[in-house]
Formats: sequence, C-alpha cells, structure tokens
Amino acid sequence: MPEPHITVNGRPRPLTGTPAHTNALDFLRGCGLTGAKEGCAEGECGACAVLVARPDGPRSRWTPVNACLVPALALDGQEVLTAEGLGRPDDLHPVQSELAVRGGSQCGYCTPGFACSMAAEYYRPDREDGPGGFDLHAIAGNLCRCTGYRPIRDAALALGSPEPGDPLAQRQAAPAPGPVPTRVAGFTRPADLADALALLAEHPDATVVAGSTDWGVEVNLRGRRVAHLVAIDRLPELRGITAGGPVEIGAALTLNEVAAALGDTVPLLAELWPQFASPLIRNGATIGGNLATASPIGDLVPALLALDASLVLASAAGEREVALAEFFTGYRESVLRPGELIRCVRVPTPLASHTTFRKVAKRRVDDISSVAVAIALEVVDGTVARARVGLGGVAATPVRARATEAALAGRPWSAETVEAAAVVLAGEGTPIDDQRASAAYRAAMLGNALRAWWAEGWGER
Ligand code: FES
Ligand code: FES
Repeated sequence: MPEPHITVNGRPRPLTGTPAHTNALDFLRGCGLTGAKEGCAEGECGACAVLVARPDGPRSRWTPVNACLVPALALDGQEVLTAEGLGRPDDLHPVQSELAVRGGSQCGYCTPGFACSMAAEYYRPDREDGPGGFDLHAIAGNLCRCTGYRPIRDAALALGSPEPGDPLAQRQAAPAPGPVPTRVAGFTRPADLADALALLAEHPDATVVAGSTDWGVEVNLRGRRVAHLVAIDRLPELRGITAGGPVEIGAALTLNEVAAALGDTVPLLAELWPQFASPLIRNGATIGGNLATASPIGDLVPALLALDASLVLASAAGEREVALAEFFTGYRESVLRPGELIRCVRVPTPLASHTTFRKVAKRRVDDISSVAVAIALEVVDGTVARARVGLGGVAATPVRARATEAALAGRPWSAETVEAAAVVLAGEGTPIDDQRASAAYRAAMLGNALRAWWAEGWGER
C-alpha cells in the first residue's frame, strides 16, 4: 500500500504519522500553508475553506469544504487546493484580484476561505458568463467580521469566465482521484462494503465516520477521542442513487450530490436543500451521517419522515429495512446495532401531491433550526386522502406529528381544517426552552407553519 499522502497545490504531502484526530486544517497549516484559518472550528464561518477535486461524472469538480471538520487522513490520495494554490502575490487569481481591488478584504482573516468558495463557483462548469452568472449562495457559508458583504459581493459579481488554458479549469476535465484504502493506526478506510462490514464485525466499537461534519465538531470543541475511526464515505456501494420509480439514495452521498442527482424530482427535498446549513457543509455532510447521528434538529429527517422513508441497514449478518419513523429511540440514539451501518435511504413512490418544508431559525441560512416542519399531503377532489407531517426541534428525537395527521386525513382541505389542524400541530411534541427559542415560541411556530403554507397557496399549481 503506498504511503498515505495528500496532493496539495500539485505537491504530494505525506500523511505518515498524522494522528487520526488531526484535521485537514491543522495538517495544512502545519505544512506552512497558513492561508486557511480557524475561525470557529465547527463549520460555521468558512475561514478554513479549501477545495478538493471531487468526482463529477467522468470529470472532476473543485469542491469547497470546511477543512476544520475533515480528518487529514480522510483526504489520503486526494487532491486539495488551498488559497496559496490559486495564485501568487505577483500573479493573483481572478477571485483574489477582484477581492483586492474592490475592497473585499480588510483584516484578511476570512479572505482565503472566501477566495476558495468563490473559485469553486468561478469554475462551476454550467455557470453563465457575466453579472448574475455568479450564484451568491456559493459564499453563504463564509462569514466576514469586518469588511462588510457589499464589496465581497461586488467582487463575486465582477468575475468573468476562466481564460482558455486556465490550468485549474483544465484540471476539471480529468477524473477526480478514486478512493484509496487507508490503514494506519487509528484510521481505516475500507476498500469496499464487504471489507467495511467485516472490519466492523471484528471491531464493533469502532467509530464510523462519513463527511465528519458532526464528528469534527465533537473532536474540535468537545475533545472527543476514540481508538479507531472507520471512514465509509467513499464506499462505492453506498454512493448509488436511483430515481424515476422508488427513490433509493446511497447513504454516503453528500447532500449536494443528492440535490444535484435528484434535481426537482422530489420537490420536498428540492425545497429543503437551500435551507440546510451552507454549501460548504452540504459538500461534506452525507445523507446517512445526518440520520445516523440521530440529532433531534437535523433538517433532513422531518422531510424524510413526511416522505415515509425507510432505511436499509447492513451488517456482516445481512441487511434489514427499518421505517425511519421507528429508527430513533432517544436523544442521539437509534436502532443501529454495533457493527451496523446505513446502506441507503428508500423513499416510496408515488410521492405526495403537495409538500412543503418550513424551517424557523434565527438566520435564514447557515443556522440550526429552532423548529422544522415538513408536510406531505395527498389531496383528492378537495379532500385530504393522506397526510404525513415530520417535525424537528420539538422532542428528544425527530417525530411524526401523528395527531395532526389524524386531524387532516379524511377532512375537506379548507381553511377550517387548516385552522383546526394548526391548533393540534402546536401541541405536538415536548418542546423545551433553550438558547435558540422558548418552548412557547416553538409551539406557536409549529401551528403557524401550516397556516402560512395555506395562506401562501400551499403549493397549488
Ligand atoms: Fe469556521 Fe472551519 S474554522 S468553518
Ligand atoms: Fe476581516 Fe473578513 S476581512 S474577517
């Protein structure tokens, strides 16, 4: 097996001796590449953003991720680009040059992270040239504390297209590096699913990681350390997706990969993605990881509950399918057994005719929900034939709002039914007071989610 290494800005950087808990940011800074910074160490500020060459069909795509969350060893065999690899002081990259001339940088702490997120958008293959071609959502995961966002936005909107022969654009025409198995002290990346399941059968106490967007926070802010990490995010058997009939989503696909593959085919999920954290997080977080962490405030779960999803769980003993509504057993606890992992998520079809996802948070994007409500209704001839309502942020686990579903099903779909169901919905769960919201506010927002959907036309097309 070759020596573990990351290719950084075109140069191999050996990972030999790197501890399993060292994140990619600390590793890169230890190499002298100090452009990327630590601002929050929990995926909120983007000061640590770097680019990774990820698969995009037969091509590759420069994909920005939060280096503070990813174990350095998880990038074994991968190609990484930092702000230092974009341009040099005497030969700035267009994103660096626009940031400089338009006053988009003052203290500069956030600037390398902004430059990486902007470069990813600059190289997006289907981006249109000219003002408006730059999707400002691409920098939604980057915070600046001193410049103010207008000059940064001006820099982004001033960008043209890459020049012919731009080496970083040309790099995207070639495939991304494939996954390489890694076996070093404390960290294993199995070669395939069979290898992973055999390993987990032998070491059922190993900690399974995928995108590490949750694990990285545990390591950085809570000082968690474990004996053995098993990385499953590149297992080919966990990265398939099927649509056009029942939807089956591989657990190791990132949220942005799922969003790109599904497009508008599952409208409830299409409505959810832009409200889920930031592009940087969605490039790291996997669909299986969001479920396996069993967080009561994960935004994906309410939507999948409303879609009646089930999970296929795999272990060396075989597979079993569990309804998502039966998956969670308590705060951050689930029916997952030692040695078991989530292989895929299944969403039955036909999908409900009318759906919505409502998130209440202190910030519109890049924030944790105070409450999240997902509703899926089948309305036939003016009557609710079937109702599914998923909730987050109102109990120790995500829950189905079964009393609300009962208050909707079989009733005429009318303002009276909506009001009666909204009152029931406000009483669902056992919301608590915490730093994000009071219990009373959460309850009020639940009922208002349904009222607002109705008032806005409830997706009637
Ligand atoms: Fe803030 Fe990584 S340091 S997102
Ligand atoms: Fe100072 Fe952005 S320039 S934080």
